[in-house]
Amino acid sequence: MAYACRQCGYRSVKWLGRCPSCGAWDSFEEISPQRATKKGAEPESWLGEEPRPLPQVPSAPLRRLPTGFPEVDRLLGGGLIPGAVILFGGEPGVGKSTLLLQIGAHLARDHGPVLYVSGEESAPQVKLRAERLGIAEERLYLFAEQSLPRIAAAVETISPLALIVDSLQTVLARADGGEIGGIQQVREAAAEIARLAKLRGMASFLVSHITKGGGFAGPKTVEHIVDVAIYLEGLRETDLRILRSVKNRFGSTNEVAVFRMGERGMDEVPNPSLFFLSRDKTPKPGSAIVPVLEGTRTMLVEVQALVSPTKYGPPQRRTPGLDYNRVLVLLAVLERYLGVHIGMSDVYLAVAGGFEVREPALDLGIAAAVLSSLYNRPLPPDSVVLGEIGLSGEIRPVRRAQERLKEVEKLGFRRAVLPHQEIEGGIGLELVRVKTVDEAVEALGLGG
Ligand code: TYD
Ligand code: MG
Repeated sequence: MAYACRQCGYRSVKWLGRCPSCGAWDSFEEISPQRATKKGAEPESWLGEEPRPLPQVPSAPLRRLPTGFPEVDRLLGGGLIPGAVILFGGEPGVGKSTLLLQIGAHLARDHGPVLYVSGEESAPQVKLRAERLGIAEERLYLFAEQSLPRIAAAVETISPLALIVDSLQTVLARADGGEIGGIQQVREAAAEIARLAKLRGMASFLVSHITKGGGFAGPKTVEHIVDVAIYLEGLRETDLRILRSVKNRFGSTNEVAVFRMGERGMDEVPNPSLFFLSRDKTPKPGSAIVPVLEGTRTMLVEVQALVSPTKYGPPQRRTPGLDYNRVLVLLAVLERYLGVHIGMSDVYLAVAGGFEVREPALDLGIAAAVLSSLYNRPLPPDSVVLGEIGLSGEIRPVRRAQERLKEVEKLGFRRAVLPHQEIEGGIGLELVRVKTVDEAVEALGLGG
Protein backbone atom coordinates (compact mmCIF):
# COMPACT_ATOMS: atom_id res chain seq x y z
CA MET A 1 0.00 0.00 0.00
CA ALA A 2 1.25 3.50 -0.80
CA TYR A 3 -0.01 7.06 -0.82
CA ALA A 4 0.87 10.05 -2.97
CA CYS A 5 0.16 13.78 -2.72
CA ARG A 6 -2.16 15.03 -5.47
CA GLN A 7 -0.49 18.44 -5.50
CA CYS A 8 3.17 17.53 -5.77
CA GLY A 9 3.36 13.76 -6.10
CA TYR A 10 5.21 13.19 -2.80
CA ARG A 11 5.01 9.54 -1.78
CA SER A 12 4.50 8.08 1.64
CA VAL A 13 3.86 4.59 2.99
CA LYS A 14 1.14 5.91 5.26
CA TRP A 15 -1.69 8.37 4.84
CA LEU A 16 -0.78 11.91 5.99
CA GLY A 17 -3.11 14.80 6.77
CA ARG A 18 -0.62 17.35 5.51
CA CYS A 19 2.01 16.91 2.83
CA PRO A 20 5.52 17.40 4.29
CA SER A 21 6.79 18.41 0.84
CA CYS A 22 4.32 21.03 -0.43
CA GLY A 23 2.22 21.71 2.66
CA ALA A 24 -1.13 20.83 1.05
CA TRP A 25 -3.84 19.58 3.42
CA ASP A 26 -5.85 16.43 2.89
CA SER A 27 -4.11 15.79 -0.42
CA PHE A 28 -3.04 12.16 0.02
CA GLU A 29 -4.52 9.49 -2.14
CA GLU A 30 -4.04 5.78 -2.08
CA ILE A 31 -2.21 4.45 -5.10
CA SER A 32 -1.72 0.84 -5.96
CA PRO A 33 1.92 -0.21 -6.18
CA GLN A 34 3.64 0.01 -9.58
CA ARG A 35 2.01 -1.94 -12.34
CA ALA A 36 3.71 -4.97 -13.88
CA THR A 37 5.32 -6.05 -10.65
CA LYS A 38 3.64 -9.43 -10.68
CA LYS A 39 6.32 -12.01 -10.14
CA GLY A 40 7.92 -12.93 -13.42
CA ALA A 41 5.89 -10.41 -15.47
CA GLU A 42 8.11 -8.28 -17.68
CA PRO A 43 7.39 -4.57 -17.99
CA GLU A 44 6.37 -3.53 -21.47
CA SER A 45 8.93 -1.79 -23.65
CA TRP A 46 8.35 1.94 -23.91
CA LEU A 47 8.97 2.55 -27.63
CA GLY A 48 9.97 -0.99 -28.62
CA GLU A 49 13.43 0.05 -29.86
CA GLU A 50 16.76 -1.82 -29.84
CA PRO A 51 20.09 -0.39 -28.64
CA ARG A 52 22.05 1.25 -31.49
CA PRO A 53 25.52 2.77 -31.87
CA LEU A 54 25.27 6.56 -31.49
CA PRO A 55 26.09 7.42 -35.14
CA GLN A 56 23.25 5.18 -36.30
CA VAL A 57 20.65 6.91 -34.16
CA PRO A 58 18.62 9.16 -36.44
CA SER A 59 19.04 12.83 -35.63
CA ALA A 60 16.13 14.64 -34.05
CA PRO A 61 14.05 16.45 -36.65
CA LEU A 62 15.25 20.01 -37.03
CA ARG A 63 11.86 21.07 -38.21
CA ARG A 64 10.12 23.34 -35.78
CA LEU A 65 6.60 24.33 -36.60
CA PRO A 66 5.48 27.91 -36.09
CA THR A 67 2.36 28.01 -33.90
CA GLY A 68 1.03 31.22 -35.39
CA PHE A 69 2.14 33.10 -32.27
CA PRO A 70 5.79 34.21 -32.56
CA GLU A 71 5.92 34.75 -28.81
CA VAL A 72 4.79 31.18 -28.13
CA ASP A 73 7.41 29.93 -30.60
CA ARG A 74 10.08 31.85 -28.73
CA LEU A 75 8.86 30.41 -25.44
CA LEU A 76 9.04 26.88 -26.83
CA GLY A 77 12.63 27.49 -27.94
CA GLY A 78 11.93 28.33 -31.59
CA GLY A 79 8.67 26.63 -32.54
CA LEU A 80 6.89 23.38 -31.91
CA ILE A 81 9.03 20.24 -32.13
CA PRO A 82 7.35 17.11 -33.50
CA GLY A 83 6.97 14.60 -30.66
CA ALA A 84 7.27 17.25 -27.93
CA VAL A 85 5.03 16.80 -24.91
CA ILE A 86 3.96 20.13 -23.47
CA LEU A 87 2.24 20.54 -20.14
CA PHE A 88 -0.03 23.56 -20.23
CA GLY A 89 -1.01 24.56 -16.71
CA GLY A 90 -3.10 27.34 -15.25
CA GLU A 91 -6.01 28.17 -13.00
CA PRO A 92 -9.52 27.51 -14.26
CA GLY A 93 -10.85 30.36 -16.39
CA VAL A 94 -7.46 31.89 -17.18
CA GLY A 95 -7.78 31.10 -20.90
CA LYS A 96 -6.03 27.78 -21.54
CA SER A 97 -8.75 26.33 -23.77
CA THR A 98 -9.01 29.57 -25.69
CA LEU A 99 -5.30 29.88 -26.43
CA LEU A 100 -4.91 26.21 -27.33
CA LEU A 101 -7.88 26.31 -29.69
CA GLN A 102 -6.24 29.28 -31.40
CA ILE A 103 -2.89 27.49 -31.60
CA GLY A 104 -4.63 24.32 -32.84
CA ALA A 105 -6.36 26.31 -35.57
CA HIS A 106 -3.06 27.83 -36.74
CA LEU A 107 -1.36 24.45 -36.82
CA ALA A 108 -4.29 22.89 -38.69
CA ARG A 109 -4.36 25.67 -41.24
CA ASP A 110 -0.62 25.78 -41.91
CA HIS A 111 0.70 22.30 -41.24
CA GLY A 112 -1.77 19.40 -40.98
CA PRO A 113 -4.45 17.66 -38.94
CA VAL A 114 -4.86 18.58 -35.28
CA LEU A 115 -6.94 16.61 -32.81
CA TYR A 116 -8.53 18.60 -29.98
CA VAL A 117 -9.86 16.27 -27.30
CA SER A 118 -12.19 17.75 -24.75
CA GLY A 119 -13.09 15.84 -21.62
CA GLU A 120 -14.85 18.78 -20.01
CA GLU A 121 -16.97 20.32 -22.71
CA SER A 122 -19.12 18.80 -25.44
CA ALA A 123 -18.03 19.20 -29.05
CA PRO A 124 -20.81 21.76 -29.74
CA GLN A 125 -19.59 23.77 -26.73
CA VAL A 126 -16.06 23.81 -28.11
CA LYS A 127 -17.48 24.72 -31.50
CA LEU A 128 -19.29 27.66 -29.94
CA ARG A 129 -15.97 28.96 -28.66
CA ALA A 130 -14.39 28.33 -32.07
CA GLU A 131 -17.13 30.35 -33.76
CA ARG A 132 -16.59 33.19 -31.36
CA LEU A 133 -12.90 33.08 -32.24
CA GLY A 134 -13.62 32.97 -35.97
CA ILE A 135 -12.14 29.48 -36.30
CA ALA A 136 -13.48 27.05 -38.92
CA GLU A 137 -10.51 24.91 -39.96
CA GLU A 138 -11.21 21.74 -41.93
CA ARG A 139 -8.28 19.89 -40.45
CA LEU A 140 -9.09 20.71 -36.84
CA TYR A 141 -10.87 17.68 -35.34
CA LEU A 142 -12.95 18.01 -32.18
CA PHE A 143 -13.50 14.95 -30.02
CA ALA A 144 -15.38 14.99 -26.70
CA GLU A 145 -13.93 11.94 -24.99
CA GLN A 146 -12.41 10.84 -21.70
CA SER A 147 -11.36 7.28 -22.41
CA LEU A 148 -7.67 7.01 -23.20
CA PRO A 149 -7.99 3.93 -25.42
CA ARG A 150 -10.61 5.76 -27.52
CA ILE A 151 -8.39 8.82 -27.72
CA ALA A 152 -5.49 6.61 -28.82
CA ALA A 153 -7.70 5.01 -31.47
CA ALA A 154 -8.66 8.46 -32.80
CA VAL A 155 -4.96 9.35 -32.98
CA GLU A 156 -4.44 6.17 -34.99
CA THR A 157 -7.21 7.10 -37.47
CA ILE A 158 -6.56 10.81 -37.88
CA SER A 159 -2.78 10.71 -37.46
CA PRO A 160 -2.64 14.30 -36.27
CA LEU A 161 0.56 16.31 -36.17
CA ALA A 162 -0.60 17.73 -32.87
CA LEU A 163 -2.87 16.47 -30.12
CA ILE A 164 -4.48 18.78 -27.58
CA VAL A 165 -5.86 17.11 -24.46
CA ASP A 166 -8.18 19.42 -22.52
CA SER A 167 -7.73 18.42 -19.80
CA LEU A 168 -5.40 15.74 -18.54
CA GLN A 169 -7.49 15.57 -15.37
CA THR A 170 -10.50 14.32 -17.32
CA VAL A 171 -8.71 11.42 -19.03
CA LEU A 172 -9.47 7.91 -17.83
CA ALA A 173 -6.40 5.80 -18.48
CA ARG A 174 -7.72 2.54 -17.03
CA ALA A 175 -11.06 1.31 -15.75
CA ASP A 176 -9.40 0.12 -12.54
CA GLY A 177 -7.01 3.06 -12.15
CA GLY A 178 -8.82 4.90 -9.38
CA GLU A 179 -11.03 7.96 -9.53
CA ILE A 180 -11.00 10.35 -12.47
CA GLY A 181 -8.54 13.19 -11.97
CA GLY A 182 -6.71 11.15 -9.33
CA ILE A 183 -2.97 10.97 -9.32
CA GLN A 184 -2.82 7.50 -10.80
CA GLN A 185 -5.15 8.18 -13.74
CA VAL A 186 -3.44 11.48 -14.51
CA ARG A 187 0.08 10.06 -14.39
CA GLU A 188 -0.74 7.05 -16.46
CA ALA A 189 -2.57 9.16 -19.02
CA ALA A 190 0.38 11.55 -19.29
CA ALA A 191 2.89 8.72 -19.61
CA GLU A 192 0.86 6.92 -22.28
CA ILE A 193 0.26 10.09 -24.30
CA ALA A 194 3.98 10.89 -24.04
CA ARG A 195 4.79 7.43 -25.39
CA LEU A 196 2.36 7.89 -28.29
CA ALA A 197 3.80 11.32 -29.00
CA LYS A 198 7.38 10.00 -29.19
CA LEU A 199 6.38 6.98 -31.25
CA ARG A 200 4.48 9.03 -33.83
CA GLY A 201 6.41 12.31 -33.76
CA MET A 202 3.16 13.96 -32.74
CA ALA A 203 3.33 17.09 -30.59
CA SER A 204 0.97 17.01 -27.61
CA PHE A 205 -0.39 19.69 -25.36
CA LEU A 206 -1.66 18.46 -21.99
CA VAL A 207 -3.89 20.94 -20.22
CA SER A 208 -3.76 20.77 -16.45
CA HIS A 209 -5.76 22.86 -14.02
CA ILE A 210 -4.15 24.31 -10.95
CA THR A 211 -6.56 24.33 -8.06
CA LYS A 212 -5.77 25.49 -4.59
CA GLY A 213 -6.06 22.43 -2.38
CA GLY A 214 -8.25 20.81 -5.02
CA GLY A 215 -9.31 17.20 -5.02
CA PHE A 216 -7.41 16.17 -8.15
CA ALA A 217 -3.84 15.75 -9.28
CA GLY A 218 -2.20 19.05 -10.20
CA PRO A 219 0.32 19.77 -12.97
CA LYS A 220 3.33 19.34 -10.64
CA THR A 221 2.59 15.63 -10.43
CA VAL A 222 3.41 15.13 -14.13
CA GLU A 223 6.13 17.73 -14.76
CA HIS A 224 8.77 14.99 -14.76
CA ILE A 225 7.04 13.18 -17.62
CA VAL A 226 6.83 16.09 -20.05
CA ASP A 227 9.43 17.87 -22.20
CA VAL A 228 8.11 21.36 -21.66
CA ALA A 229 6.02 22.82 -18.86
CA ILE A 230 4.38 26.18 -19.39
CA TYR A 231 1.92 28.01 -17.19
CA LEU A 232 -0.62 30.65 -18.05
CA GLU A 233 -1.14 33.25 -15.34
CA GLY A 234 -3.51 36.17 -15.08
CA LEU A 235 -2.38 39.53 -13.77
CA ARG A 236 -4.47 41.02 -11.02
CA GLU A 237 -7.47 42.98 -12.25
CA THR A 238 -6.32 43.14 -15.86
CA ASP A 239 -6.99 41.35 -19.12
CA LEU A 240 -3.27 40.57 -19.39
CA ARG A 241 -2.02 37.00 -19.34
CA ILE A 242 1.54 35.80 -18.89
CA LEU A 243 2.69 32.53 -20.33
CA ARG A 244 5.80 31.28 -18.55
CA SER A 245 8.04 28.28 -19.25
CA VAL A 246 9.30 26.54 -16.12
CA LYS A 247 10.83 23.52 -17.83
CA ASN A 248 12.07 23.11 -21.38
CA ARG A 249 14.18 20.27 -22.74
CA PHE A 250 14.57 22.16 -26.03
CA GLY A 251 15.29 25.69 -24.89
CA SER A 252 15.78 28.01 -21.97
CA THR A 253 13.33 28.30 -19.12
CA ASN A 254 11.70 31.23 -17.36
CA GLU A 255 10.83 32.74 -20.70
CA VAL A 256 7.66 34.76 -20.73
CA ALA A 257 5.17 35.76 -23.39
CA VAL A 258 2.52 38.38 -22.73
CA PHE A 259 -1.05 38.18 -24.03
CA ARG A 260 -4.19 40.21 -23.82
CA MET A 261 -7.51 38.40 -23.50
CA GLY A 262 -9.96 40.17 -25.76
CA GLU A 263 -13.45 39.62 -27.12
CA ARG A 264 -12.04 37.39 -29.84
CA GLY A 265 -9.51 35.39 -27.90
CA MET A 266 -5.91 35.97 -26.98
CA ASP A 267 -3.70 38.50 -28.73
CA GLU A 268 -0.01 38.51 -28.12
CA VAL A 269 1.73 41.66 -27.00
CA PRO A 270 4.71 41.70 -29.36
CA ASN A 271 7.17 43.93 -27.51
CA PRO A 272 6.43 43.74 -23.84
CA SER A 273 9.71 45.37 -22.75
CA LEU A 274 8.01 48.70 -22.25
CA PHE A 275 4.60 47.36 -21.57
CA PHE A 276 4.63 47.68 -17.82
CA LEU A 277 5.71 51.29 -17.63
CA SER A 278 3.03 53.87 -17.08
CA ARG A 279 2.38 55.91 -20.19
CA ASP A 280 3.34 59.12 -18.45
CA LYS A 281 6.90 60.22 -19.28
CA THR A 282 7.51 62.83 -16.57
CA PRO A 283 8.89 61.14 -13.46
CA LYS A 284 6.80 61.32 -10.32
CA PRO A 285 7.92 60.95 -6.73
CA GLY A 286 7.86 57.34 -5.62
CA SER A 287 8.57 55.81 -8.99
CA ALA A 288 11.73 54.00 -10.13
CA ILE A 289 12.35 52.14 -13.38
CA VAL A 290 14.32 48.89 -13.31
CA PRO A 291 15.37 46.58 -16.16
CA VAL A 292 14.48 43.09 -14.90
CA LEU A 293 15.18 39.76 -16.54
CA GLU A 294 12.39 37.40 -17.44
CA GLY A 295 14.14 34.41 -18.94
CA THR A 296 16.36 35.78 -21.67
CA ARG A 297 14.33 38.92 -22.07
CA THR A 298 14.77 42.28 -20.42
CA MET A 299 11.60 44.01 -19.36
CA LEU A 300 11.42 47.46 -17.89
CA VAL A 301 9.20 47.64 -14.86
CA GLU A 302 8.19 50.56 -12.74
CA VAL A 303 8.38 50.15 -8.98
CA GLN A 304 5.91 52.46 -7.27
CA ALA A 305 6.09 53.42 -3.62
CA LEU A 306 3.88 55.43 -1.33
CA VAL A 307 5.27 56.31 2.09
CA SER A 308 3.01 58.20 4.46
CA PRO A 309 2.95 58.74 8.22
CA THR A 310 0.93 56.11 10.07
CA LYS A 311 -2.30 57.63 11.36
CA TYR A 312 -3.30 54.88 13.76
CA GLY A 313 -2.37 51.33 14.64
CA PRO A 314 0.83 49.62 13.66
CA PRO A 315 2.58 50.80 10.45
CA GLN A 316 1.31 49.07 7.32
CA ARG A 317 3.51 47.35 4.76
CA ARG A 318 1.90 46.19 1.51
CA THR A 319 3.95 44.79 -1.34
CA PRO A 320 1.79 43.09 -3.98
CA GLY A 321 3.93 41.59 -6.74
CA LEU A 322 7.11 41.98 -4.68
CA ASP A 323 8.82 39.79 -2.12
CA TYR A 324 7.38 40.99 1.22
CA ASN A 325 10.23 39.74 3.41
CA ARG A 326 12.82 41.19 1.06
CA VAL A 327 11.15 44.59 1.31
CA LEU A 328 11.27 44.43 5.13
CA VAL A 329 15.00 43.75 4.97
CA LEU A 330 15.56 46.63 2.54
CA LEU A 331 13.63 49.04 4.77
CA ALA A 332 15.78 47.97 7.72
CA VAL A 333 18.97 48.55 5.70
CA LEU A 334 17.79 52.05 4.72
CA GLU A 335 17.00 52.92 8.34
CA ARG A 336 20.33 51.63 9.56
CA TYR A 337 22.66 53.06 6.91
CA LEU A 338 20.91 56.24 5.86
CA GLY A 339 19.37 57.09 9.20
CA VAL A 340 15.96 57.63 7.60
CA HIS A 341 12.86 57.09 9.70
CA ILE A 342 10.29 54.89 8.08
CA GLY A 343 9.43 52.89 11.18
CA MET A 344 6.44 55.12 11.89
CA SER A 345 5.24 55.31 8.30
CA ASP A 346 2.99 53.15 6.16
CA VAL A 347 4.82 51.80 3.12
CA TYR A 348 2.89 50.64 0.06
CA LEU A 349 4.85 49.17 -2.83
CA ALA A 350 3.74 47.72 -6.14
CA VAL A 351 4.90 47.07 -9.67
CA ALA A 352 2.95 49.03 -12.28
CA GLY A 353 0.66 46.91 -14.42
CA GLY A 354 0.27 44.21 -11.76
CA PHE A 355 3.44 42.39 -12.78
CA GLU A 356 5.18 40.09 -10.31
CA VAL A 357 8.94 40.35 -9.97
CA ARG A 358 11.26 38.58 -7.63
CA GLU A 359 14.82 39.47 -8.53
CA PRO A 360 17.66 40.79 -6.36
CA ALA A 361 18.49 43.36 -9.05
CA LEU A 362 15.26 45.08 -8.10
CA ASP A 363 16.54 46.02 -4.61
CA LEU A 364 17.98 49.38 -5.55
CA GLY A 365 14.80 50.28 -7.46
CA ILE A 366 12.69 49.47 -4.40
CA ALA A 367 14.96 51.56 -2.16
CA ALA A 368 14.98 54.45 -4.65
CA ALA A 369 11.17 54.42 -4.99
CA VAL A 370 10.71 54.42 -1.20
CA LEU A 371 13.15 57.32 -0.66
CA SER A 372 11.73 59.26 -3.59
CA SER A 373 8.26 59.03 -2.06
CA LEU A 374 9.52 59.79 1.44
CA TYR A 375 11.28 62.99 0.27
CA ASN A 376 8.56 63.72 -2.30
CA ARG A 377 11.25 64.16 -4.93
CA PRO A 378 11.19 62.44 -8.34
CA LEU A 379 14.21 60.54 -9.63
CA PRO A 380 16.13 62.12 -12.52
CA PRO A 381 14.29 61.73 -15.84
CA ASP A 382 15.41 59.14 -18.43
CA SER A 383 17.15 57.08 -15.73
CA VAL A 384 16.98 53.47 -14.65
CA VAL A 385 18.41 51.88 -11.52
CA LEU A 386 19.58 48.35 -10.85
CA GLY A 387 21.53 46.60 -8.14
CA GLU A 388 21.23 44.17 -5.28
CA ILE A 389 21.56 45.65 -1.80
CA GLY A 390 23.61 43.76 0.79
CA LEU A 391 22.91 43.74 4.51
CA SER A 392 25.69 46.24 5.16
CA GLY A 393 24.33 48.69 2.61
CA GLU A 394 26.70 47.71 -0.20
CA ILE A 395 25.44 47.54 -3.79
CA ARG A 396 26.23 44.18 -5.31
CA PRO A 397 26.60 43.20 -8.97
CA VAL A 398 23.65 41.81 -10.92
CA ARG A 399 23.69 39.09 -13.54
CA ARG A 400 23.69 39.92 -17.22
CA ALA A 401 23.94 43.67 -16.66
CA GLN A 402 25.14 44.28 -20.18
CA GLU A 403 22.09 42.74 -21.83
CA ARG A 404 19.81 44.76 -19.61
CA LEU A 405 21.63 47.99 -20.43
CA LYS A 406 21.46 47.29 -24.18
CA GLU A 407 17.69 47.07 -23.93
CA VAL A 408 17.53 50.19 -21.74
CA GLU A 409 19.52 52.09 -24.37
CA LYS A 410 17.30 50.81 -27.17
CA LEU A 411 14.23 52.06 -25.38
CA GLY A 412 15.54 55.61 -25.26
CA PHE A 413 16.81 55.98 -21.71
CA ARG A 414 19.99 58.00 -21.11
CA ARG A 415 21.36 57.09 -17.73
CA ALA A 416 21.73 54.08 -15.48
CA VAL A 417 22.70 53.91 -11.81
CA LEU A 418 24.27 50.50 -11.25
CA PRO A 419 26.81 48.51 -9.21
CA HIS A 420 30.55 48.49 -9.88
CA GLN A 421 30.85 45.69 -12.38
CA GLU A 422 32.44 44.95 -15.71
CA ILE A 423 30.37 46.04 -18.72
CA GLU A 424 31.88 45.01 -22.02
CA GLY A 425 31.26 46.77 -25.28
CA GLY A 426 29.98 50.25 -25.92
CA ILE A 427 26.82 51.24 -24.17
CA GLY A 428 25.42 54.59 -25.21
CA LEU A 429 24.27 55.39 -21.70
CA GLU A 430 25.72 57.48 -18.94
CA LEU A 431 26.75 54.83 -16.41
CA VAL A 432 26.83 55.95 -12.80
CA ARG A 433 28.47 53.27 -10.69
CA VAL A 434 27.76 53.13 -6.98
CA LYS A 435 29.26 51.09 -4.16
CA THR A 436 26.89 51.81 -1.28
CA VAL A 437 23.34 53.00 -0.69
CA ASP A 438 24.80 56.39 0.32
CA GLU A 439 26.45 56.79 -3.06
CA ALA A 440 23.27 55.64 -4.80
CA VAL A 441 21.22 58.22 -2.93
CA GLU A 442 23.66 60.96 -4.03
CA ALA A 443 23.61 59.76 -7.63
CA LEU A 444 19.82 59.83 -7.68
CA GLY A 445 19.60 63.35 -6.28
CA LEU A 446 17.95 62.10 -3.11
CA GLY A 447 20.71 63.08 -0.70
CA GLY A 448 20.71 65.89 1.85
P1 TYD B 1 -11.09 29.49 -21.07
O1 TYD B 1 -10.20 29.40 -22.26
O2 TYD B 1 -12.32 28.66 -21.06
O3 TYD B 1 -10.24 29.20 -19.73
P2 TYD B 1 -9.65 27.81 -19.16
O4 TYD B 1 -9.67 26.82 -20.24
O5 TYD B 1 -8.25 28.16 -18.70
O6 TYD B 1 -10.50 27.42 -17.99
O7 TYD B 1 -11.45 31.03 -20.92
C1 TYD B 1 -12.19 31.43 -19.84
C2 TYD B 1 -12.58 32.90 -19.85
O8 TYD B 1 -12.16 33.63 -20.95
C3 TYD B 1 -14.10 33.00 -19.83
O9 TYD B 1 -14.44 33.67 -18.62
C4 TYD B 1 -14.47 33.78 -21.01
C5 TYD B 1 -13.21 34.48 -21.43
N1 TYD B 1 -13.07 34.66 -22.88
C6 TYD B 1 -12.78 35.90 -23.39
O10 TYD B 1 -12.65 36.89 -22.67
N2 TYD B 1 -12.62 36.05 -24.75
C7 TYD B 1 -12.77 35.00 -25.61
O11 TYD B 1 -12.62 35.19 -26.84
C8 TYD B 1 -13.07 33.70 -25.07
C9 TYD B 1 -13.24 32.51 -25.96
C10 TYD B 1 -13.21 33.57 -23.71
MG1 MG C 1 -10.82 25.05 -20.37
